[in-house]
Amino acid sequence: MRIVLGVSGGIAAYKAVLLLRLLREAGHAVRVIPTQAALRFVGAPTWEALSGEPVSTEVFDDVEHVQHVALGQSADLVIVAPATADLLARAASGRADDLLTSTLLAAHGPVVMAPAMHTEMWEHAATRANVATLRARGVHVIEPASGRLTGKDSGAGRLPDPEDIAREALAVLAASRSPQDLAGRRVVVSAGGTREPLDPVRWIGNRSTGRQGVALAEAARARGAQVTLVAANLEGVGADAVADVLVRVESTAELREAVRSAALDADVVVMAAAVADFRPAARTEAKIKKVPGQGPAPIELVENPDVLAELVRDRLRPGQVVVGFAAETGDAAGSVLDHGRAKAVRKGADLLAVNAVGAGRGFGTPDNEVWVLDATGEQVAHASGTKRQVADGLWDAVVKALG
Ligand code: CTP
Repeated sequence: MRIVLGVSGGIAAYKAVLLLRLLREAGHAVRVIPTQAALRFVGAPTWEALSGEPVSTEVFDDVEHVQHVALGQSADLVIVAPATADLLARAASGRADDLLTSTLLAAHGPVVMAPAMHTEMWEHAATRANVATLRARGVHVIEPASGRLTGKDSGAGRLPDPEDIAREALAVLAASRSPQDLAGRRVVVSAGGTREPLDPVRWIGNRSTGRQGVALAEAARARGAQVTLVAANLEGVGADAVADVLVRVESTAELREAVRSAALDADVVVMAAAVADFRPAARTEAKIKKVPGQGPAPIELVENPDVLAELVRDRLRPGQVVVGFAAETGDAAGSVLDHGRAKAVRKGADLLAVNAVGAGRGFGTPDNEVWVLDATGEQVAHASGTKRQVADGLWDAVVKALG
């Protein structure tokens, strides 16, 4: 995608350098438009070298290309970070006195602004009014972070971390290119793998990374849904910013509680988590010790509740679409799809996404493939590609099931 990164003149301009790198690493072409004041903080050569594109600040540069409208028209997304109080004021009043503000007026795609300024300026009635005006016009204004400001003081007005700005801005970009067919819907997605504790330091777990579940949450949000992500032991997969509500859980018991309480007012529940079928019968308060000369103590297991089967049985909300996942390897008794069909009928979920695991497929891999079956075992969809593409394929099937 083609992104314009506007940088206005605040000390936080240095953080926009990292933002530029992140956007480039995510595969986007980025054109940086600093204001004159921004160039006093970070110079044009830095922007040019890291973006690989020319940098200008004025409408009178490169006039033959009619840049002041062309850059905005052709951008899939415009981000302004940092957006100073002055930039917000100029944008809110529709000024076109430099290349950045002209570009904002000509922008066809979504606009994201990440303000940064001192707390007094952020809280001033003039700035509040400018932000309200911009938001009313559809500009996505990111709330500034709180913390240490330029001087010795601290408070609201800090530029959020570049990773957070990139994530939020790219979510806005994704939403602008996604059908809004889940708008107004509440969805619950469970993701990750449960851990069943043995003692304070040990647990029985599985290899699920939760990436498919996170992609499902992200895709649902891009399509307009309000998303609750029940995250079982998700580490390093950026779960924080993909959902409206994030509930972190460890064991099946905790996951069950969180899913059921969120499911009470959900239109869709997707059980993408790898939930342990069994748990140790007892969890000791103290660490289990190795006794020299004695062999290992056997671990007695008891069955966990089947959260998915309970959701199907209890139907916590009328009309709710319940979606299960089935990770299958296939064996002498049948193929991946044979096992999937049998499980679809057994579990009775409205939809069951069957995916093949093992031999480099499924867990921990970037790509995935699923066959979506209905409660009778009939195939209703097939999706493959990145986990995000698979997620969108599954949501297409869910939207049909919602009717
Ligand atoms: N699941 C659940 N609660 C459990 C176990 C599984 O909610 N205690 C859900 C998973 O989140 C997934 C689906 O059930 O959506 C399939 O789980 P899976 O373990 O593959 O199915 P099983 O019925 O346990 O079949 P098997 O282990 O024989 O493959």
